[in-house]
Order: sequence, then structure tokens, then C-alpha cells
Amino acid sequence: MLRRRGIILPAFEIYGGVSGLIDYGPVGASIRRRVVQSWVDHWLSHGDIVEIDSPTVTPETVLIASGHVGEFNDLMTECKSCNSIFRADHLVEEQYPNADSLSAEEIDKLLGNGANCPNCSENTWTPAKPMNLMFSTKIGAMSAGRTAYMRPETAQGMFMLFPALYRHFRQKLPFGAIQTGKGYRNEISPRQGMIRLREFNMAELEYFIDPEKPPADDLNRRTEIVLLVPDPDGPHSGETRMGFGAALDSGIVRHPTVAWFLARTWDFLVNVGIDPERIRFRQHASTEMAHYAEDCWDCEIYGEHGWIECVGIANRTCHDLLSHEKKSNSKGLRAWRQFSVPRSQKIDRLTAIGSVIGPYFRGEAGLVTSALEELSDIPEFFPFKLTLSNGNVVSIDENMVERRKEVVNVSGEWFTPHVIEPAFGIDRIIWHILDHSYQESKKEGEDYTFLRLPEGISSVDCVVLPLFDKDGMGELASEITKAINSLPHRSAEMDSSKSIGRRYARADEIGVPWALTIDHTSLEDGSVTIRRRDDQVQVRAFVDEIISNLLAGTMHSLF
Ligand code: ATP
Ligand code: GLY
Repeated sequence: MLRRRGIILPAFEIYGGVSGLIDYGPVGASIRRRVVQSWVDHWLSHGDIVEIDSPTVTPETVLIASGHVGEFNDLMTECKSCNSIFRADHLVEEQYPNADSLSAEEIDKLLGNGANCPNCSENTWTPAKPMNLMFSTKIGAMSAGRTAYMRPETAQGMFMLFPALYRHFRQKLPFGAIQTGKGYRNEISPRQGMIRLREFNMAELEYFIDPEKPPADDLNRRTEIVLLVPDPDGPHSGETRMGFGAALDSGIVRHPTVAWFLARTWDFLVNVGIDPERIRFRQHASTEMAHYAEDCWDCEIYGEHGWIECVGIANRTCHDLLSHEKKSNSKGLRAWRQFSVPRSQKIDRLTAIGSVIGPYFRGEAGLVTSALEELSDIPEFFPFKLTLSNGNVVSIDENMVERRKEVVNVSGEWFTPHVIEPAFGIDRIIWHILDHSYQESKKEGEDYTFLRLPEGISSVDCVVLPLFDKDGMGELASEITKAINSLPHRSAEMDSSKSIGRRYARADEIGVPWALTIDHTSLEDGSVTIRRRDDQVQVRAFVDEIISNLLAGTMHSLF
């Protein structure tokens, strides 16, 4: 149905397709745009979150600092009998549920223990070895080209823009930045349709906080959810049901802002049409966590492929900003923490010994003296390199300076903000929206299917159907379609082909919530029939009423 109705199709199909690459067709692309827009609106409504947009091609240095060049790996293994390549942890999932927490040696043991090749059923595996998942490329031509990668996450764009964000928010934490767009991962063996893609739609939020003042929300009002917490001795133990507030109070969720994002993630998913009974949050075991994370939760959704991670919510601490500060020498990745009362602090100072510095540095002696006074981190070892305000670098020996302890009053301090990140995989979410909204029933003895998509997520809000394409019905239908399409965030499509029954069935099958039928009475008094997708009940209403209720989201009040 997804393929036939132009929702999702294999990409490059006339050339045989490429696994891990898909197309959204005319219906699917519109659903995708509306899910992404709902996600953007969901976070922008907070007031302290803004949207940014950065390049997908990322220089190697950025991804060395972030740890992706060294550590963004999955373990792969090859079947010695048929040469098929697999992601090693996926082959042993039945023996060990969260197998990506295991080492290569542990996986090798499980592989030998009855994990037969899904292709040829033999059990002869090469030792599991890491493969970096990034697609590499070059910026620039020939030997002048610099190594770069297609971004594996959008998050690094937000870290690069921290100084601009800090200025935008008038130097005040907390604040966040969101970005939606493509992410690229050269997945080892993408086999589950749109669950594991090589180019996919990401939507990420980086929320920058002062770790000493983590923002929180009143979470006790929230519904109960299912949590899965790792057992220190092995795979996850059973499910626990509790509210977000209780999960925080009991220490299961370790950070108040993480708990808040778990709750806001749940709100978003339910709003776009995910069944709340098929959502659970699974905490990562410490061995399973991404290289940058301190606490990590997967929001998993249940569907045709079982439980699938669709959102990762991680406490990335100061990992990224600190690594970029070290690698780039930028001082712009910190925030200022103002003390409520000034604190007296003992600080180390190095003062220049004039009788040594003067004759040694001559014309630059003044610059050396001031650079020493401004040093905030006093080096432990001599000689050390000192950068002067004119850009020159000089070497300072122990006999040139005197080390003193001073007590000073300080009004605040610079620190590296921490980051809490919810990272959404839009394609996996769309897959589950479609899965959960798919309904099958029998109508007049025939199989009948429809998508119970929420209003605002279906590809269009209304389909406009002239009963016959004569007597001006087609013209009136086209006018009504145009009127609806000129409304903000509302859309309609006209369909005048085939029988009215076929047209209703097509609209239901792609999840359009309202069908407006134009008949002879419409030509006389301007009223049309509205048919509701979910129960096929029909009422008559005037076009003005329909337009105002469509805008207000109150179409049900017409029934
Ligand atoms: P998995 O363990 O399934 O490979 P992951 O832990 O690598 O996923 P994250 O790195 O946390 O996933 O990425 C954030 C989100 O991006 C995921 O929750 C998922 O929804 C989505 N995502 C990750 N990899 C893919 C992919 N190959 N195809 C489609 N979506 C993906
Ligand atoms: N930015 C989160 C991730 O890629 O996993």
C-alpha cells in the first residue's frame, strides 16, 4: 500500500534500488513535512529554543574532536561460507537482548554458540571487528582536497554555533537549539525497510544548561509510562510502570532535565499519532552508551519489527564543548556563572621579575609582563610557551618569574555548559505512525483499509470530490480546493476520477480525515457533504462553516 499510494518507495528502483535509501512519494513527502513541522512547533513553543541550520558536509577536525572518527563504530562480521556481511550484535540479539553493549570477544563467543548465517545457515564467522559508519568525502579537488564526512548527526552544528547562540540568548542559560535535516551512516547491513537507512531524517535538540542549576519541570502530573532499566549483571530486567516524576524521585532517571525531556518526547509522539500503549523508555547499560554520553535513554516504539529505538535522549555532559575547546583553542564555548555573593578565592599568579625579563626581552618586555598577569591557568612545568598580544610566542623560564598566591574577590566564573540531547529519527517515527494508524476492516464483504492519521499529519486535510464532472460541479470543487489551500497550514486536493466510492476508499487509504462532496444541491445553496474518515458518517454544511472549523481544528463539532 505504501508503494502503491506513493507514500514510501525504494529509491533508484529502476536501477534495482540501493538498500538503506528510500524515496518519499507525493503523499509520503507531505506526511514527512508535517511530522517535521509538528516537531519544530513542539519545541519552538518552549520560548527558549531556536532553530538553526548547518552544513551536512563536515570537516574531519570537527569529527575528530567529537570522537566520531575514533569511536563511531559498529562491529561487523563476515560469513566465511557465503561472504555475506552482517552487523555482529544483531546476529546474537536472540541470545542477548542489548548486544551492542558487548565487546568483540563476547560477541565472537555468542556467534560461535549457534548464531547461524541468516543467508546460508552455516556457522563460520570471521572475528567481529569495528567499522566506522561515516561516509567520507573531500572538500576541494585533487591533492588540495581536505578529508570530510557527511554528518552522522546534526548535533555538531549546534555545538559549532554555541557562541552565536550564547549571544542570541543574551549570555543566559538554559537555552536550546534544534535542527532538522539529513544524517548519514553507512550502516553495515540495512535490512528492515525504513528502520535502518543510510541517509535519514534527523531532528535533534541540544539543550545547554548550567550543571549546578539543572532546569526541571513539575513532572508529577504526567501519565504512567513503561521503563526498562538495565540489570548490572546482564540484559535488561523486567518492565517497571511509573510516572516521569516518580522515575526521577526514585533515582531511576538520574537527571531532572533528562526526565523532563522523556516526558516532552512522550507528548510529541502521542500528538503525532503514536499509540501510547506501544511506547517504552529503555535505559542504556553503561557499556552500551555512546562515547559522549553519561546517561542515555532510548524511547522505543512497538510495531511490525518489534521494539525499535526511535528517539535517543542523552546527557552528553560537557563532552562536546570541552573537546571542541581543546581541539580548536577557542575560548568561546564557555558560559559565565554569576555568584549570588562574590567569593574570595586563592589564585596562583606569576609575576615577571623585571631585572631578568627587561634585558632578555627588551622591546617586548612590557608585553611579556602583561601576558603573564593575564594568565588564568598557571602552567605546572617550565619552560612554557606564552602568547603575546602581538601574536608572538615566547618561552618563559623559571628564573624569569615569581609564583605568588593572591586572595581576590570574584563575582563569577567561566564554565563549560552541559548538554541534554533528545535525538529523533523521523523516518522510524513515521513508520510507526503509519503502522499504528493502519486499520483493516470488512465493508460489504470486501477488505477495506484506512489510515487513522491525526489531523495535521495526513498528507492533506480534505479531499474535494465533485460528484460528477459536469454542470459546474468541477468548477465549484476547484474553487473550494483553492480556498482551503490558501489557509495557513491547511491543505486540500481535488479528485474527480472514477466512482465516488473508489475516491472515498483512496482518500481513506492514505488517511485524509475529511472528504467534501459537491453535488447538485451544492450548486443551488452552496452546502456540501462532509464525510468523516473514521466512521464514514456524513453531514451537510456550508463552505464558510467548514473553513472556519478547519482553521480552528473543530471539524467534529459539525457532526
Ligand atoms: P541503532 O542502535 O538502532 O543503530 P543508534 O543508537 O545508533 O540506533 P542514535 O545514534 O541514538 O541511534 O540516533 C538517534 C536516532 O536516529 C535513533 O533513535 C533513530 O531513531 C535514528 N536513527 C539512527 N540510525 C538510523 C538509521 N540508520 N536509519 C534511520 N534512523 C536512524
Ligand atoms: N545525536 C545523537 C546521535 O547521533 O546519536
